[in-house]
Amino acid sequence: MNFQEIKATEDQFQLATYAKMGLAVERGSGSWVWTSEGDKYLDLYGGHAVCATGHTHPYVVNAIQKQAAKVLFYSNLVYSDVRAKAAEKLVSVALESLTKAFFCNSGTEANENAMSIARMATGREKVVSFDGGFHGRTADSISATFLGRYRNIGKPNVPGHVSAEFGNIDSVRAVADRETAAIILEPIQSMAGVREASPEFFAGLRRVCDERGIVLIFDEVQTGIGRTGNWFFAGSEHGDGVVPDMITLAKSLGSGVPVGACLVNDSVAAHIKINDLGTTFGGGMLAMAAVLATLEAIEDDDMIANARSIEQHLCDSLTGVAGIKAVHGKGCLLGIEFDEACGSIHKKLLSHKIITGTSSDPNVLRLLPPLMVSKDEIDMLVEVLRS
Ligand SMILES: Cc1ncc(COP(=O)(O)O)c(C=O)c1O
Repeated sequence: MNFQEIKATEDQFQLATYAKMGLAVERGSGSWVWTSEGDKYLDLYGGHAVCATGHTHPYVVNAIQKQAAKVLFYSNLVYSDVRAKAAEKLVSVALESLTKAFFCNSGTEANENAMSIARMATGREKVVSFDGGFHGRTADSISATFLGRYRNIGKPNVPGHVSAEFGNIDSVRAVADRETAAIILEPIQSMAGVREASPEFFAGLRRVCDERGIVLIFDEVQTGIGRTGNWFFAGSEHGDGVVPDMITLAKSLGSGVPVGACLVNDSVAAHIKINDLGTTFGGGMLAMAAVLATLEAIEDDDMIANARSIEQHLCDSLTGVAGIKAVHGKGCLLGIEFDEACGSIHKKLLSHKIITGTSSDPNVLRLLPPLMVSKDEIDMLVEVLRS
């Protein structure tokens, strides 16, 4: 099929819920994708923040192929060597206190389960989240989402969700009380335009949660799995080393095979019994092979160090470029803030065959490249932005 045929067929048979770019991706390798028309695009959006190891990383592909030939799926009703290894590996790269994993299939599902776990652990119902945060599109997650119009899509919302101001600990103190089960936040608000908070804010959150018996959840669906220059934002210098009680993950975790996870500490895990949570597909063998291989590839190829050096390189390269106000974010989660709305720049880059992301801040262009992106590839973006 050529592009026009693909487009016409998708438009006819798929519900129109996304404003799509005018290209059909046929294959990918590293930071690059090729279209149905044979054009080659530099993918600085990383397949929607998913392809952390790059497109079709050979080690990951090999692990998935081998697993597919052995057994594609059996649920958590049975044990599995690949699930055992994936869970052990994920817990081993996480912070010491996060000792248990619950596997599911997506980011929104990870957040739904994290909030349920917090409610079960505390016997409370209320959840505090933040203006500008995005947590997914299913009922509880969208009710915790106070970004633009998203929350309204989920009407009637789940009761018991209240918002505080991101970065303002006094606003948290005003709403997080002894009826609050959880505080959930994106430690860097990606969709909102790569908004950051101070390390002191995170220290304050930990204090409020400890004082009031609240479960602290970091939604690391975007910031996790090495993207922000550490395995997780949690525990890093950017958040004053603060360790939450739970972390939620998805996107990069399976290099493109759908998988989500909650990482839980012992004191929260102690409240969870058999049959409290469940999902048919969570922890399936194919997804677990992808998780294990993704974590090993990131480690073996030293991608986390690369993510840090890419951040530095981009910041250095864009210093003094006309029209650019600031670069926000960490590692390979970066927001370039322009003096004015950057929709036309996003389009211009696409015409130069460079895929980037927009955000809900019209002035901020988002980059979520594979963690193995090279400085030379980043320079291709810089060259167009300079011109
Ligand atoms: C921070 C964050 N949390 C949760 C989600 C929801 O993930 P999913 O689309 O896999 O349900 C997203 C998706 O963009 C996200 O960016």
